[in-house]
Amino acid sequence: MSAHPKQPDPGTERKPVTLPQIAEMKLAAEPIVMVTAYDHPSAQVAEAAGVDMVLVGDSAAMTVLGYDSTVPVSVDEMIMLAAAVRRGLKTPLLVGDMPFGSYEGSDQQAVENAQRFVKEAGCDAVKLERGGASVERARAIIRAGIPVMGHVGLTPQTATALGGFKAQGKTAGRAAQIAEDALALQAVGCFSIVFEAMPSEVTAALMPRMNTAAIIGIGAGVETDGQVLVFHDLLGIFGGHAPKFVKRYADVRSEMVRGVAAYADEVRSRAFPAPEHTYAVEPEELEAFRRYLDQETLAEADWDWSATEI
Ligand code: KIV
Repeated sequence: MSAHPKQPDPGTERKPVTLPQIAEMKLAAEPIVMVTAYDHPSAQVAEAAGVDMVLVGDSAAMTVLGYDSTVPVSVDEMIMLAAAVRRGLKTPLLVGDMPFGSYEGSDQQAVENAQRFVKEAGCDAVKLERGGASVERARAIIRAGIPVMGHVGLTPQTATALGGFKAQGKTAGRAAQIAEDALALQAVGCFSIVFEAMPSEVTAALMPRMNTAAIIGIGAGVETDGQVLVFHDLLGIFGGHAPKFVKRYADVRSEMVRGVAAYADEVRSRAFPAPEHTYAVEPEELEAFRRYLDQETLAEADWDWSATEI
């Protein structure tokens, strides 16, 4: 039996996706669909497309805020974006990405910032990156009653320490490190873990050990419980370089440029606005207005405007 409807059924109200439902989908081997969103319109698109989870990723730093990496984005910026996404979503489970520097310092810092994502932005869960000390932070946040998604493999917040934006787990030693981190995050109760940019064979070898956490892949092969892509990458909105694991399902940027360029052309040729985009005025009102303008000294005019609707 299906744990979750695969397609949104037009006309029938879908129920909000819950944590137990994500666990059921994993058990039923039903692929889980996650996409990022950063604002109200992208949330509405994710809602209409019927995805299961939406991540307000710190990729927002690059896709919508124009930073060079994910590192500079602040908790305040992420909360503002996540709150806008919340207002556009009814159904998918909403995960807020804790930015670099917002959870590493102490359990208290991690819990307080995770609580902000829930209280101020209405997120259902938070995500943090890496194993090591992040495992303890994940445990503390879960103990505080907030579901946590982990993230291993390529972890963009610490990409410099990993040798740049490149696939991870390509040696037995590095793959073992990823396995240790993933198993530790699962053991402390992460309901889900992102596997990013790692060989699909490594993922396949590890998946039988991932018994409770729903594994969401991005550049980690087809064996995971689900997939995530960055909204701007999959729709072709982002102009820059896309990683190897991105598949473009649309070329929205070209269409946006085409639309804005056509608008610019029509403004310059005065083809826009056309009569259907303008407001009309009754002829007698216009005549009266012209008479008013024709007076020699406007400032001294004794004109009764009270009868005129503006
Ligand atoms: O920030 C992000 O968008 C992410 C996904 C790529 C998993 O972490």
